[in-house]
Amino acid sequence: MVSSHHAAVAGGPHDDASGADLDLADPGTFVVHDPYAYWDRMRRDAPVRWHPPVGGRPGFWAVARHRDVQDCYKDAERLSSARGTVLDVLLRGADSAGGRMLAVMDRPRHRALRQVMLRAFSPRVLRYVEDAVRQRADALVAAVVGAGEADAARDIAEHLPLNTVCDLLELPLSVRPLLLEWNKRALSSESAQDDPFDALEARNEILSYFVDVVRERRRRPGEDVISLIAGARVEGRPMSEDDLALNCYSLILGGDESTRVTTIGALHALGVHEEEWQRLRTGEAAVKTAVEEVLRWVTPAMHFARTATVGLRIGDAEVAAGDIVTLWNISANNDPEVFERPRRFDVGRAHNPHLALGHGPHFCLGAFLGRLELAAVLDSLVRRVERIEVLQEPPRVYSNFLFGHSALRLRLD
Ligand code: HEM
Repeated sequence: MVSSHHAAVAGGPHDDASGADLDLADPGTFVVHDPYAYWDRMRRDAPVRWHPPVGGRPGFWAVARHRDVQDCYKDAERLSSARGTVLDVLLRGADSAGGRMLAVMDRPRHRALRQVMLRAFSPRVLRYVEDAVRQRADALVAAVVGAGEADAARDIAEHLPLNTVCDLLELPLSVRPLLLEWNKRALSSESAQDDPFDALEARNEILSYFVDVVRERRRRPGEDVISLIAGARVEGRPMSEDDLALNCYSLILGGDESTRVTTIGALHALGVHEEEWQRLRTGEAAVKTAVEEVLRWVTPAMHFARTATVGLRIGDAEVAAGDIVTLWNISANNDPEVFERPRRFDVGRAHNPHLALGHGPHFCLGAFLGRLELAAVLDSLVRRVERIEVLQEPPRVYSNFLFGHSALRLRLD
């Protein structure tokens, strides 16, 4: 089927949940509807679908198949990140950090800055961070084991990612609780009632904190990552304080919520799938393999988005220059053409080319660190825990970007 531009809408508007054309721009959609049934249908019937404009906002394309999503990620020339990479932002206009923050810029500047920011992930830095991550994860798990009811978010997941990025950036322990608080306010929209102005204010607090840190480290450079980045030249020029602050913040943005939600998702999946937990615990499946399955199973970033710079064909669809294109990782990661029995949580899954960390030039910069944090938690669970009991089905995060839970009552014995 060749989708005529801005017209191909599969199904009827009044179908029931599994058949309906759900409003993908609505953060509540996948809180109430089953995304897996929906995307199964889309991959089959309308793999590159034009999502019509809703409520005065522009329409956009939704790409569902693994092959197409992966190709789009690779095609950074024709599918730009510079206007923004999250649907909600693109529908409201353009990302204010566009062209300045790594995740939302294009070549050639993207390549130059990525080279610089990769210094944060040199073996020397990572060795130091790795020990801290393993110790922290183990202490967190140890404190929960046998202690009765706990909350996976509050007692474990919340403390790991932000502290890891803070270790990486060598930020003092004293500021971390405040950063976590600001970051939660800046990001987690747990209900429709959350105040967008509060979120904006929180973001500005974080940025102005980082501007102070950048100034300080420019004045007295050390061996740390911020000093390194602050002293580097991108395309022949040093970066401005504001851009440096923004890119420090981007490590928190990229690293905190995604890893937090995945850690909670890991505990949930292992608690609910008792036989898979036993396979992991007894060593039948390796932690490394289980980490990849957790990433695929949870897929915390449901989508990422791009803007077409020229007209192009995606699958059978003709996409016009300027169109918004959304790439649905949650659908790609459950594509039966690539994953055998995708809705089976299989900690020993051998073939697992998931896209939870993206693909191509913007592939997750923190992939090593994210995987390390998850592996550290799983390792500690394997060592210390016999039984993971989920005490209550948690509600989903209110978002069309982030998928998962922000709390999980459980018991570790
Ligand atoms: C990029 C997912 C952890 C920092 C990405 C992308 C995905 C992703 C899908 C690609 C976005 C795109 O193509 O537009 C995840 C998941 C994580 C995780 C699922 C954990 C489970 C981290 C951590 C850090 C981080 C720990 C930082 C320490 C970044 C940055 C980018 C990025 C800076 C932008 C890279 C670029 O544009 O070149 N992440 N991430 N992420 N991630 Fe992660």
